[in-house]
Amino acid sequence: MSKIAIINGPNLNLLGIRNPKIYGNLSLEDILKHLKKTFKQHEIQSFQSNHEGVIIDTLHEAKKWAHGIMINAGAYTHTSYAIRDAIETIEMPCVEIHLSNIYARESFRQLSVLAPVCIGQISGFSANSYELGLRALEMHLQLKKPS
Ligand code: DQA
Repeated sequence: MSKIAIINGPNLNLLGIRNPKIYGNLSLEDILKHLKKTFKQHEIQSFQSNHEGVIIDTLHEAKKWAHGIMINAGAYTHTSYAIRDAIETIEMPCVEIHLSNIYARESFRQLSVLAPVCIGQISGFSANSYELGLRALEMHLQLKKPS
């Protein structure tokens, strides 16, 4: 059993109604419900904030209780050196995810300042990016556990 923090950034509270052609029809609640059902063996706590500082505080807090982090930082992915530094500082395995393929979109989205401090990235599989990201984090954590 692993303890996992799922952190969602700005505008992801509007999933389901926000630009459904790009982000799909499922709400964040729908996605999280599916994850909690699929990954029953793990303790999953999810967070969403539209505020950079709150996301940083959530990362710092996660250091105290979680084994790993999955983050969709929304547009902060492309701009936030502060979130990047927080991920680097807490020294925990962190998987970056995106619903859309950020490399097939506007040029400003094609750079992730978070990627270098994450163990890996999943991008472009709509809501399935969440499940794939969690699977990747789970495998990483299991491999790291002594047998
Ligand atoms: C996103 C991609 C970002 O560029 C965008 O700002 C988002 C969502 C995604 O999940 O595809 O808010 O992170």
